Amino acid sequence: MITNQSTPYLRCIEAGCEERYPIDERIYTCRRCAGLLDVQYDFNLSSTADEMKAIFNERRAARTELERSGVWRFRELLPFVTDLSRVVTLAEGNTPIYTAPRSAEYAGLDRLRFKHQGLNPTGSFKDNGMTTGVTQAARLGTAAVACASTGNTSASMAAYAARAGMRAFVFIPAGEVAYGKLSQSLEYGAKVVEIEGNFDDAMRLVRELADETDLYLLNSINPFRLEGQKTIVIEMMEQCDWQAPDWIVLPGGNLGNTSAFGKALHEMRELRFIDRMPRMAVIQAEGAAPFYELFGSSDKSKLRPAARPSTLATAIRIGNPVSWKKALRSLEWTNGIVEIVTEQEIADAKAMIGRDGIGCEPASAATLAGIKRLVTSGVIGKPDNVIAVLTGNLLKDPSYTIGYHTDEIALDDYTHRQIKGNFANRPVRAAADKDQIKRALF
Ligand code: F0G
Repeated sequence: MITNQSTPYLRCIEAGCEERYPIDERIYTCRRCAGLLDVQYDFNLSSTADEMKAIFNERRAARTELERSGVWRFRELLPFVTDLSRVVTLAEGNTPIYTAPRSAEYAGLDRLRFKHQGLNPTGSFKDNGMTTGVTQAARLGTAAVACASTGNTSASMAAYAARAGMRAFVFIPAGEVAYGKLSQSLEYGAKVVEIEGNFDDAMRLVRELADETDLYLLNSINPFRLEGQKTIVIEMMEQCDWQAPDWIVLPGGNLGNTSAFGKALHEMRELRFIDRMPRMAVIQAEGAAPFYELFGSSDKSKLRPAARPSTLATAIRIGNPVSWKKALRSLEWTNGIVEIVTEQEIADAKAMIGRDGIGCEPASAATLAGIKRLVTSGVIGKPDNVIAVLTGNLLKDPSYTIGYHTDEIALDDYTHRQIKGNFANRPVRAAADKDQIKRALF
């Protein structure tokens, strides 16, 4: 045993409230003030940070999925599970960090690295949070789980629920979820409800349903999801030999990741795992940018939802992000910022990430587009050490990619302009004849 923890608890994040609840209570927001909840620990580590870092690292070579998992090998930093036999895992995490020279040059940086969360079992960062969310569902004896989703949360929840033998109900905006993601939810056996509305409608409805029924809600408003997502940056710091970079850049939608990253960095700093804070930069698509608006406003006490959020990066087509208060706190902790990017910038950045041999889904490419803007405006310096998080796999949204490379990308309904395939790689057509093929190639 290397830690000696007191009992974890849930705590309302609202200053002046900070109401506490036991972690076995099925609760998503504060009963007194409706504030968001943190899973809180009075960390009392009996080993030094250096000893723990060595143990985290040794577990990577272990035989069992649980021990090796890129979430559970860091379990002393998210110690809400005492009975490890309850853990539901698909050996998630342990995702690589790639250097990306072409993308770096495109953005105007000396160097740039991507941590690719798209290389998770279901192809997105959601798996880091779903293993902890579904494990908590198992601890509570839940039979059925539910979420609203732009596609990745539902794919991940469906897979982990299938592993755990739970029923899964996913609520998605009809016609707005990329096919790769929809196909996963169907294949993993979830009940898929296509709502005639947008993500925000689906989110509102599933929250009401979770209050009135036995469905256990697994959106990122559930604080146990965020405990797992903390390990994305914990592992990132490990991969950097626990030397924080200057910048961590990520896309922002419902703002669960932004919230989780800030909490992880704050806790790692407090526990002396890192000795300085990186700055966080959150990037939103300009047609779905309520957090950007909030960040630029003098009154940060209330988020004004975007009524008709719109972007072809459907993963982040969200107008009313539930975790905005935690996300704001993350920016305070890390001296962070928010930037917006256009549809054209996202599309070109995505093609550039492909040219590095990496690839990602559209929402993830908002990072590179945002970095390019921030370098141009002088906020990020050319020599700065920057790591961007690619949140989803290239194969999640093939229609978008093919549309870009064949100049047939669907109309962008925010600006009503066609997206240009500035870096398009068009296929060539040739008769089934060697000479004709040679002519087509050279
Ligand atoms: N990138 C991808 C690929 C996503 O799927 C999401 C969110 C985000 C970025 C934004 O992350 O919400 O933590 O700010 N997808 C959710 C879903 C909303 O339902 O799959 P966030």
